[in-house]
Amino acid sequence: MTSDYHYAVMKQEILDNLELANNDTYIDVTLGTGGHTLAIMESNKKPKKMICIDLDKESLKVAKKRLGKYSKNIKYIQGNFKDIDLLIQEKVDAIIADLGISSYQLLHSNRGFSFNENSLLDMRIDKYQELTAHKIVNSYPLQELSDLLKNFGEEKNHFKIASEIVRQRNNEEIKTCLDLAKIVKRTNKNKTKINPSTRTFQALRIAVNNELSTLEEFLEKSLKLLKKGGKLIIISFHSLEDRIIKQVFKYCEAKCICPPSVMVCKCKKKQTLRILTKKPLTPSTREVSENAKSRSAKMRIGVAI
Ligand SMILES: C[S@@+](CC[C@H](N)C(=O)[O-])C[C@H]1O[C@@H](n2cnc3c(N)ncnc32)[C@H](O)[C@@H]1O
Repeated sequence: MTSDYHYAVMKQEILDNLELANNDTYIDVTLGTGGHTLAIMESNKKPKKMICIDLDKESLKVAKKRLGKYSKNIKYIQGNFKDIDLLIQEKVDAIIADLGISSYQLLHSNRGFSFNENSLLDMRIDKYQELTAHKIVNSYPLQELSDLLKNFGEEKNHFKIASEIVRQRNNEEIKTCLDLAKIVKRTNKNKTKINPSTRTFQALRIAVNNELSTLEEFLEKSLKLLKKGGKLIIISFHSLEDRIIKQVFKYCEAKCICPPSVMVCKCKKKQTLRILTKKPLTPSTREVSENAKSRSAKMRIGVAI
């Protein structure tokens, strides 16, 4: 089953930034198939307790089995990391987030995430929520669809693709990932190295799972859960997420947000974070050669003060 597991990116960089064993508690808010948690539990950075969260029940099941050996030190929670303040009440030493979806979900779960998949357009990380990619593709008005592809996919041909989707769905419902991929391929003649459907599928996934506002909410709440000196370690895979993390970190590090014209600070803002990574860390050349998909990973680390 090893090949079903997600390749956990930048494991060494996570371990390098954790303190030697003795720490009480870490949280892995994106457990996936457990690769990062396993690396931590097998290392000399193992904490007394690990709390592992994932929104996806199926991934939790896979990870639980994989991490069986360490189960007495692990608490599992099925939930959304944006609700971290409700899910966890204790202060912790580190919080780790590896954003997006896992290759297990992409390749093995038949959940409609992949443009190569002949399954129903779905893309829900939480199988119990209502909104699906199918609903967006088959019912959103043209302009809304076009904006979504532009804002969440940074897709240059957003209007053309949206128009073709609307034209097609007027003939027949667009049911599967392959149906949508065919429509995009016909329309999107941009010659880039990535698959013509990549940006459209990214945009739909972000919209279905409300990923950007979820990330913002998580960042704000997670800082409050860290002990003084505790670390927030976040890995993101596209510029939309990285920009949010960078901006929130900058805001939290600022001691004052008064406009430059104000001579004496009036805002009374408190610094809550020190940024450890002025520039994001990226995977080593060796890691990228082992796993080409890791090339877009960016890690930012903040320390709670
Ligand atoms: C890139 S994978 C993490 C892989 C993991 N680090 C590993 O080594 O296997 C991201 C995981 O985060 C989960 N996830 C995405 N959004 C979430 C959210 N809002 N709350 C909780 N889990 C979420 C996904 O279900 C997925 O399993």
